[in-house]
Amino acid sequence: MDGVPVICIDGPSGAGKGTLAVRLARQLGWHLLDSGALYRLVGKACLDAGVAWDEEAAVAVVARSLEAEFDVVGDEVVVKLGGVDVTADIRSELGSKGASSVAVLPRVRAALLERQREWARPPGLVADGRDMGTQVFPDSPLKIFLTASVEARAERRYSQLLAKGESVSLPRLLEGIRERDARDSTRSASPLVAAKDAVLVDSTSLTIDEVLERVTALAADRGILGRVSG
Ligand code: C5P
Repeated sequence: MDGVPVICIDGPSGAGKGTLAVRLARQLGWHLLDSGALYRLVGKACLDAGVAWDEEAAVAVVARSLEAEFDVVGDEVVVKLGGVDVTADIRSELGSKGASSVAVLPRVRAALLERQREWARPPGLVADGRDMGTQVFPDSPLKIFLTASVEARAERRYSQLLAKGESVSLPRLLEGIRERDARDSTRSASPLVAAKDAVLVDSTSLTIDEVLERVTALAADRGILGRVSG
């Protein structure tokens, strides 16, 4: 990880981190870590193995032995577990619930920590999650904390799920996002908080292109891009 620049993008669900991270990584030609997908995979692998989401020791064993593969296709991260494409499965509402349930367990977070740091390879890494800037890559030269109003986040998720043909109710989504926010921000292990040195970006009334432009400008200002291209 030493010497490899890492741009961290943290924030609550639905703020647009995923799309921003994919586009930024593509624009820079850097690697991409979708850490939420790791927690989602742990939840899914537990379901498959009949391990309850609150059995900490057993869930940590599952986390250590994940056989995960990631591929970026368009703006989406395609995720495989043991060679099988589980993208749709892990991005469902059940997948979100499983992820945020196993994510409260300190031994599971510890099991995933080194795995996440191994993603930092030249020429650089864009890391998307909740604790990238606070726990996983504390030395990152650019930490973005991306937020948006809870209503805007629920509406974006609603459109995404509709486009995938999932039938959903907006009020239920809103409630799910509020619950997940509460669980993510109040847990004792790595709660969702902005790093002290993070730059706050509110995407409520910005397009993804505008957010991307702002973040690229910040990276350029800090000399991060110059450092890579020589
Ligand atoms: O980012 P995504 O919505 O895929 O993350 C799913 C869940 O995984 C989050 O709600 C959060 O509980 C957990 N998570 C986490 N730490 C991360 C990334 C995700 O706790 N770095």
